[in-house]
Amino acid sequence: MEIIRTVSQMQAAAEKMRKRGRKIALVPTMGFLHKGHLSLMRRALGLADTLVVSLFVNPVQFGPNEDLDQYPRDFEQDVVLARQTGVNILFAPEKDSLYPDGFDTYVVQEKLPVHLCGLCRPEHFRGVLTIVAKLFNIVKPHVAVFGEKDFQQLAVIRRMVADLNFDIDIVGHAIVREDDGLAMSSRNANLDGDGRKSARVLSGSLRSAAKMVADGEARAGTVIKKATVMILAESGTKIDYVNICAPDTLDDLDVIDRPALMAVAVKIGGVRLIDNIMLEPGQKNV
Ligand code: PAF
Repeated sequence: MEIIRTVSQMQAAAEKMRKRGRKIALVPTMGFLHKGHLSLMRRALGLADTLVVSLFVNPVQFGPNEDLDQYPRDFEQDVVLARQTGVNILFAPEKDSLYPDGFDTYVVQEKLPVHLCGLCRPEHFRGVLTIVAKLFNIVKPHVAVFGEKDFQQLAVIRRMVADLNFDIDIVGHAIVREDDGLAMSSRNANLDGDGRKSARVLSGSLRSAAKMVADGEARAGTVIKKATVMILAESGTKIDYVNICAPDTLDDLDVIDRPALMAVAVKIGGVRLIDNIMLEPGQKNV
């Protein structure tokens, strides 16, 4: 596995691979790799000849009072895991290589970011889209794989790729969970013992919502209320949002009469976690 630290070296390597007819897959990450990332990488290995994993904690997607400084980092361990998984190139640029003095161009999207995480983190998707567009221009992938835990992120990236005509296939990969249901996330490492126990309520509340809806409950308000009560019953939880929306537009739904996305964001002891599930309406009361 080659480790590349600068934009110009990565662009040159990508150009060389493309000239040799190699198909390039990209898995963008912010490091502190876990089983969820490794599963994205294995998926990507099956889609291309060369796998590039980027590792960069992108400051531009963090707000002023967010957890940029607390974001977990372990470069040595990431190198070992990436090598074991069969990554060909680990692209780990320095901040100045991506955002040199004078940097002043950002990718902004109008509608999808004004929902869910975008409401609590107003600058977040501008930062995500900017870095992802840059990575696409630097790594020149044919295909890029993103996790479905960040459902909104995947949606805004798909929209950007369509709107700006990036010639790249975007593949969404299913959420990978711990045995007790907690969605894998680098931020889980920042939970203390009690927080880790409370965190089970994210997936637990979503599963019970999915069951309510499959059993015939179609009123989004009722489903949201039940999940809210469940989440707040756990110690140390603070809700950013519990939402049911249309998976394509992310517009709120009042009635669940078609497959709907239920998404939650909860802070536990200051650690912000997200999760989601698809609600498939049942027939009983509809
Ligand atoms: O999902 C992430 O880890 C990040 O948002 C991404 C896509 C690597 C951009 O920094």
